[in-house]
Amino acid sequence: MCGIVSYVGHHPAAPILLNGLRKLEYRGYDSAGIAVRNDSEIVTVKAQGRLQRLFDKTDNGNAVEGFCGIGHTRWATHGEPSEINAHPHMSDDGNVVGVHNGIIENYQELKDKLLRKGYHFYSTTDTEVAIKLVDYYWKKYKLGAVDAINRAMVRIRGSYALAIMFRDIPGEIWVARKDSPLIIGAGDGENFVASDVPAILSHTRTVYYIGNLEIGRLTPDCITFYNLDGDVIEHTPVTIEWDAEAAEKGGFEHYMLKEIHEQPMAVRETMNSYVHEGKIAFEEVDESVLAGLERIYIVGCGSAYHAGMAGKAALESLTDLPVEIDLASEFRYRNPKLVRNSMVIIISQSGETADSLAALRLARERGVPVLSIINVVGSSIARESDWCIYTHAGPEISVATTKAYSTQLIVLYLLAIRIGELKGTVSGDYAAELLEGMMKLPDQISRLLEDKERIQWFASKYASARDIFFIGRGMDYAISMEGSLKLKEISYIHSEAYAAGELKHGTISLIEDGTLVVGILTQQGLFEKTVSNMVEVKSRGAYLMAVTSYGNYSIEDTANFCVYIPKTDEHFMTSLAVIPLQLLAYYISVAKGLNVDKPRNLAKSVTVE
Ligand code: AGP
Repeated sequence: MCGIVSYVGHHPAAPILLNGLRKLEYRGYDSAGIAVRNDSEIVTVKAQGRLQRLFDKTDNGNAVEGFCGIGHTRWATHGEPSEINAHPHMSDDGNVVGVHNGIIENYQELKDKLLRKGYHFYSTTDTEVAIKLVDYYWKKYKLGAVDAINRAMVRIRGSYALAIMFRDIPGEIWVARKDSPLIIGAGDGENFVASDVPAILSHTRTVYYIGNLEIGRLTPDCITFYNLDGDVIEHTPVTIEWDAEAAEKGGFEHYMLKEIHEQPMAVRETMNSYVHEGKIAFEEVDESVLAGLERIYIVGCGSAYHAGMAGKAALESLTDLPVEIDLASEFRYRNPKLVRNSMVIIISQSGETADSLAALRLARERGVPVLSIINVVGSSIARESDWCIYTHAGPEISVATTKAYSTQLIVLYLLAIRIGELKGTVSGDYAAELLEGMMKLPDQISRLLEDKERIQWFASKYASARDIFFIGRGMDYAISMEGSLKLKEISYIHSEAYAAGELKHGTISLIEDGTLVVGILTQQGLFEKTVSNMVEVKSRGAYLMAVTSYGNYSIEDTANFCVYIPKTDEHFMTSLAVIPLQLLAYYISVAKGLNVDKPRNLAKSVTVE
């Protein structure tokens, strides 16, 4: 879960590497380092802590000369965050220098082997082992870089994206990848490597996706790919459509607030991509499979799982199909019984989440087709799925997801309607009515955002809360889960989401004077039931916030603070009710003076198990 950037060309490498790393800080930010090749040697500079320290240490990169280099921002897995464990790592004699993203599972076994061969180790990282393994094969066989790297690849178990420089091959960068993201950017007389598009978008829009178990060689004028046998292979470049500015903060104080405000646009763009002249068309999906479905499995992690919970409710209601939902980390190990004529839907913003990727592979191994809902174009899950429906949220930088979650909901609603049409459970007229309702969502979200000052005021009163509970029933429970996760990940306040009717089976004992309980009441049929649960906690001292739709004004008899959301079809209420909850979490985090976009212990893309 780290960020890699590399450059080879005719410009000073260090400033390019540092600015690229800046764009990847969301992938990890406990230490960073660069290695740059000058006329005679490779100079390495590392710093523990935020990337700014590396900027300071290198005079914004100006103090490190050379036109070829590799850089890394780290989120520790093996080895504590420290300067010594920061990448790049090098072989004992400095012959091989490299950076790595991923986890090498058999690193201890490889390390023991290298120790027996006389190697020494200065860090506690698995990366140092990988670099020294490449060095070992380089020296042992003297067959060149491709052979040294592929021999190491065969021995390494786990995941990796590697960028390497060899002292004896000036002006070249070598890369290798297995199960960790890595792209190659092609420029004019210069080439780039990055873990993710934003790092190189200001330099080039032409990228290659290097495949699993492949090697790449970059010089200023040439990019060559090799398979594990050392044969040259071809890849077709892809043009990235994202606007570089879309990845910037655009005047907002934090990426999260910017991304919250981008939701109307993201939701609209996602809908417009798949709804043409009032009809839903997922061109990338085989509709005969959808029509023949007898069961659906939804799999995701974190917020993607919560989007899946809301999607399950919409799918079951509109298609009459049984829908199971699993956390990816559970699905992959529970030996799921996948029935015939079924489909697995994997939901992931990054498309790189290790558990979701493993769940995908398991489903495909068992002969069940996988449809993925992904935001990052060309990501691993997108490429390995049978079909991929992209959410059009644009780059999401804040660790706490907002707009990607909202666009995942949109794709799930559209899928539910379309499968319903194909199975005959949704008539043409009903589909048209539902779509008409969906088309209003972007404006309704904008209206909710206009009311943000009220939430900000309320949030400031609860910034010192110790516990906050979210309760709801049915789809409102799914919204509660997302509201609670959003709050805890960025405000560090303990929070739980509870199915409202379940509180009295234990959790209600945690309620004391002044505990904030947020009730979600968007489903008319469950309104009275949830109100009763709110009354139960109020009588034990809870302070109540309610999120319900306009018209339900009787809630004011019970709740202390009410937020009203516009009316929409009940299947789509999640898209509106989540907005005040995102704002609540955001403003509490701001009031506490926390690092909203980069909360502690978290990274944007969880590429380890
Ligand atoms: C959400 O705010 C979290 N940061 C996290 O739960 C996230 O949704 C989860 O890690 C899944 O990521 P993915 O969508 O990239 O697979």
